[in-house]
Order: sequence, then C-alpha cells, then structure tokens
Amino acid sequence: MNDYITIALTKGRLANRTMELLGKAGYYCEEMNEKGSRKLIFTNEEQKLRFFLAKGPDVPTYVEYGAADIGVVGSDIILEENRRVYEVLDLGFGKCRMCVCGPEKARELLQHHEMIRVTTKYPNIAREYFFNRKHQTVDIIKLNGSVELGPIVDLGDVIVDIVETGSTLKENGLMVLEEVCGISARMIVNQVSMQMKTRRVREIIRNVRDCLE
Ligand code: PRP
Repeated sequence: MNDYITIALTKGRLANRTMELLGKAGYYCEEMNEKGSRKLIFTNEEQKLRFFLAKGPDVPTYVEYGAADIGVVGSDIILEENRRVYEVLDLGFGKCRMCVCGPEKARELLQHHEMIRVTTKYPNIAREYFFNRKHQTVDIIKLNGSVELGPIVDLGDVIVDIVETGSTLKENGLMVLEEVCGISARMIVNQVSMQMKTRRVREIIRNVRDCLE
C-alpha cells in the first residue's frame, strides 16, 4: 500500500467540491461515480490513488495515524480535534463562520461576563474562546447536532456553532451575537507521509494549489 497515496474526504458536499478541485488538478477516480454503490474505498490504479469517505471529525484522526496520507476537512474540525497533522492549504470553499448565537436577550450576558451555559458540538473551540479569549467562565454542554435547540428549550443561554446562510438561526428566532472565527475547507497531511512520500505529496499540493482561484 506504500505506493499509493490515500486521501480521506469529508462525506457530503465537501467531498463533491474536493473531487471537483482534484479533477481540475488532474486527479480523479472513476469508481467514485458509480451510482448506488455502498463501497467505502475507491482506487485509481493508474494514478496509484485511493480515496475514502469519512465523517468530518474522523478525517484528522485517519490522517494523524497515517491511515490516510492526505485529508480534506473543515477548519472547524481541525480546531476542535487538535490532531498532530500538517495543515498545508486553504481550499477556499466550504466557507462559513463559527459564531456565538442566541436570542437578543442573551447579548447582555456576554457583555457582563456572567456565568452562562453554552450548548455546542464544539466544546474545545467554545472553551478556548470563552476561557482564553474572553476570560468568561461558562458551563459548556456538548450536543451532537441541532444545537439551536439549546436556548429554545432552556438547556443553555447561547450556542457556539457554524453559521452559513443564517437561515437556521432566523427560523428559530436566534441571531449571531459574536464571531469566533472564519471557517473553510483545508488540506491536511500526515507528518510521516510528508517525509516518506515527499515527492508525490508535494506534487499533489502544488497541482491543487495551482488550481485555486
Ligand atoms: C449546521 C450548523 C447549523 C446549520 C447552519 O448544521 O450546525 O445548524 O448547519 O447553516 P445555515 O446558517 O445555512 O442555516 P448541520 O446541517 O450540519 O446539522 P446539525 O445541526 O444536525 O449538526
């Protein structure tokens, strides 16, 4: 398997955008276009490339342990997972913002550094933001999705979550109160692969970089 470069993609829209970009850079995988397939791993024998699809938070794990040489994942996940990988390229798509959101009445709680409850899928990002940047003591409650429910059912005062179009917030009577950071898709590389497969890895990075707008 050492002759192959293995690339971990984030399932869903990010994977489609990544394959589009890789296609422009001259890398492709016919096998991935087979409709209705339940296959998890796809190979391009000619280019000695393997691709697999994983859940976002698992992509940095596969890359850190060398199960994938390269991964493409949102910077929100990279910050949250804090894995030992090299982040080599900002791919410029999958753009959104990590924000503190809540109802208008929660705005004051943020200004006066009050003890509040925060519901989020990103406990590490929330901790770093409130404790280290804002110096505000908060109670962080981890959820696995639909975190907008938090303030609605009184589980928490605010949420820390990604905002793309803002429509989920709007439809649930919430708003952006503070911005934590911008998010976009990044290419990450396994630290050993960078040394041991230098030529191929660098070539892929260079060819993809040349295709970025
Ligand atoms: C994400 C995020 C927000 C929503 C933001 O959720 O957690 O809920 O998208 O997008 P918008 O600003 O365009 O409305 P996702 O769809 O990943 O589902 P989840 O809430 O179950 O995690």
